[in-house]
Amino acid sequence: MTSLALAASAALLAAAAAGAAPAASEAPHLRRQGTAVQLIVDGQPFLIRGGELGNSSGEPAYLRPFWPKLKALNLNTLLVPVYWDQIEPLEGRFDFATVDGLLADARASGMRLVLLWFGSWKNSMSCYAPAWVKRDTARFPRARDGSGRSVEILSAFAPANVEADARAFAALMKHLRTADAGARTVIMVQVENEVGMIPDARDRSPAADAAYALPVPAELLAALATPGPGDEELRRLWQAAGGRTSGNWSEVFGAGATGEEVFTAWHLARFTQQVAAAGRAEYALPFYANAALIRPGYQPGQYPSGGPLPHLAAVWRAAAPDIDFIAPDIYFANFTEWARRYVRAGQPLFVPEALRGPEAAVNALYAFGAHDAIGFCPFAIESITEPSAGALTAAFDLVAQLTPLLVQHQGRGTTAGLVFEGPENRTGQQVRLGGYALQATFERTAGPQLADGVVVAVGGAPAGAPPTPAGGLVIASGPDEMLIAGTGVTVVFTSLRPGENVGLLGVEEGRFEGGQWRHLRWLNGDQTHQGRHVRLEPGRFGLQRVTLYRY
Ligand code: DGJ
Repeated sequence: MTSLALAASAALLAAAAAGAAPAASEAPHLRRQGTAVQLIVDGQPFLIRGGELGNSSGEPAYLRPFWPKLKALNLNTLLVPVYWDQIEPLEGRFDFATVDGLLADARASGMRLVLLWFGSWKNSMSCYAPAWVKRDTARFPRARDGSGRSVEILSAFAPANVEADARAFAALMKHLRTADAGARTVIMVQVENEVGMIPDARDRSPAADAAYALPVPAELLAALATPGPGDEELRRLWQAAGGRTSGNWSEVFGAGATGEEVFTAWHLARFTQQVAAAGRAEYALPFYANAALIRPGYQPGQYPSGGPLPHLAAVWRAAAPDIDFIAPDIYFANFTEWARRYVRAGQPLFVPEALRGPEAAVNALYAFGAHDAIGFCPFAIESITEPSAGALTAAFDLVAQLTPLLVQHQGRGTTAGLVFEGPENRTGQQVRLGGYALQATFERTAGPQLADGVVVAVGGAPAGAPPTPAGGLVIASGPDEMLIAGTGVTVVFTSLRPGENVGLLGVEEGRFEGGQWRHLRWLNGDQTHQGRHVRLEPGRFGLQRVTLYRY
């Protein structure tokens, strides 16, 4: 069994492990199926076709005109910030009018919510802390940089800081239990947002210096004793420093920025854990933490040091058992690489933020097909425009059609994701599925084709036209049967047995309606290059059912 996520998921997974069938009235929770982790909502596995709001779009009056647009994008879930300074403007006086407004509007639109707790930290900074916290730096100390200067980042080393945050988060979760446990509009909660220390690898306040000189906690040393998923980099760092089984932070992990980052990760994760545990005691929903990723060549402190990054997954796992998994905000072109790194680190894939360009549509299909993703969510979704909006709408329509099948297949190795990974990949992508080898190549232009009477297809997009996205997903839906969904992909099937050929018995285009296959047309002749391949043309999203035979 692949390790789920972060340990505490144990609590949420317990019912499933015991074989209990989840009742519709249960709170949303996580459940393992094969190698996958599923999000269960109203007793059913749920795939988040999401979008995250821009940071300042989460107030009901502002958001109200956008709901029809969000619905038309085929979203089923909106990721919405909850601002600490708005819900606790005076210490201990809570105002949940904003949350209640969001709940009402989401329900009216038939949408679920993932709430983002903008508590102590949002992109490292403490910009959403209430004024009574910001102003009282004696009671709520700040982190300090290398020159001893105080920065607008609440220090993780001050008990008053974490206690204030945990109290507020607990109040939010308590309110949610009362306001939403029946309707279950909120299906998951993100605790803090992109935590991590900048501009140094660690806080250099006196309290942080004192903590840095203390012995490394036994729980972390115990975690290092046994190799875990994706912890090779951490273990290499530890071995390079001598592989000690006791000592202070610089002794165990080395005195440089990479060692300091482990210290930072531990303390940020402990802080986040304390906040999450206080919330879970009030209302147990799935909790995750999201990360700002690393730009090539950046060092800890240049990027937010110690965040929930894949090379620190073992630290977060040991320090934050109430965080069920860690999740990447993927704005970089190497989407597949970051997705794979999180999966290798034992995490279910959930992408709370992604670049909202045209590629988002195919990255979503790839995430569900290749990695049994829990969900995929472009950022600042209310601002999405064409051509990205149309592509995402079409891709999410495919995901919606295929959800009953995708969730059945999750964790069983019977689905694949296909995506154009960059111009340096000239040979396309090979995957094995359902006893066949699939060779996928990608077309990123809607140029003239054989079927249009052109004998030799002309490559290259018309001058100035942006490339169309190319990618999709495949489900081995039955013996010798595949469903292929996406755009700009051509797949050639070969046998895994030497000397055996594979042919196409039938290729049909169609769609699922209410779980039933509705045939649109047979694709033979030019559309399959006279039986040589299956092709989802560029510039249009489609779904094809393919039956294969061997000869
Ligand atoms: C990542 C953060 O998590 C978001 O809140 C937002 O600041 C985006 N970056 C902006 O690109």
